[in-house]
Amino acid sequence: MKFFIDTANLAQIQEAHDLGILDGVTTNPTLMAKEGIKGEAAIMKHYEAICEMVEGDVSAEVLSTDFKTIVEEGKKLAAIHPNIVVKVPMIKDGVKAIKWFTENGIRTNCTLVFSAGQAILAAKAGAAYVSPFIGRIDDSNWDGVELIAQIAQIYSIQGFKTEILAASIRSALHIVKCAEVGADVCTCPVDSILGLLKHPLTDIGLAKFLEDAKKM
Ligand code: E4P
Repeated sequence: MKFFIDTANLAQIQEAHDLGILDGVTTNPTLMAKEGIKGEAAIMKHYEAICEMVEGDVSAEVLSTDFKTIVEEGKKLAAIHPNIVVKVPMIKDGVKAIKWFTENGIRTNCTLVFSAGQAILAAKAGAAYVSPFIGRIDDSNWDGVELIAQIAQIYSIQGFKTEILAASIRSALHIVKCAEVGADVCTCPVDSILGLLKHPLTDIGLAKFLEDAKKM
């Protein structure tokens, strides 16, 4: 399973990159706004900076919602760097645009996916990635991990090549559960990635080893 970091914060991207386990980055308009990135030139520059920091795919989300403008915007984003994946919302014009991008050699990440039906459409249109938002599903009292499992089963039976990118991750446990049911990628906040490190028995065991090492 690949690890993407879900942020537009350059320091956090660097921190995850330095761990040596980072395969890519996802962003969205909320995460970009949080970093104070405003205006087309600044947006382009920020994506360029992210692409220079990591070797893997970097998802850059379009801000338009109609086919023609999504295509224009996506072409500009894709031209920034070969690792840019154009993130397109799961709406009618979005599906149409994903199909257009697929036919024109531009890779896409279909975002805001909350059902298996939407995931089937994204795969049919040729999206490189589909992003089910598992944390937001959990927030509405459904089971986000169950949706990942359902999509994994459908894609395997149908032979769809679209990679399942579990998004809206809230914890280290989410990452483990997504790995268990067949997500191809988890995009996570840095804290969830670092949460995987933690176990009290590791801390207790290390403290004892370090204490005993003094007697050696
Ligand atoms: C990433 O691709 C998604 O936009 C992101 O994971 C959404 O996360 P949130 O539900 O925590 O905003």
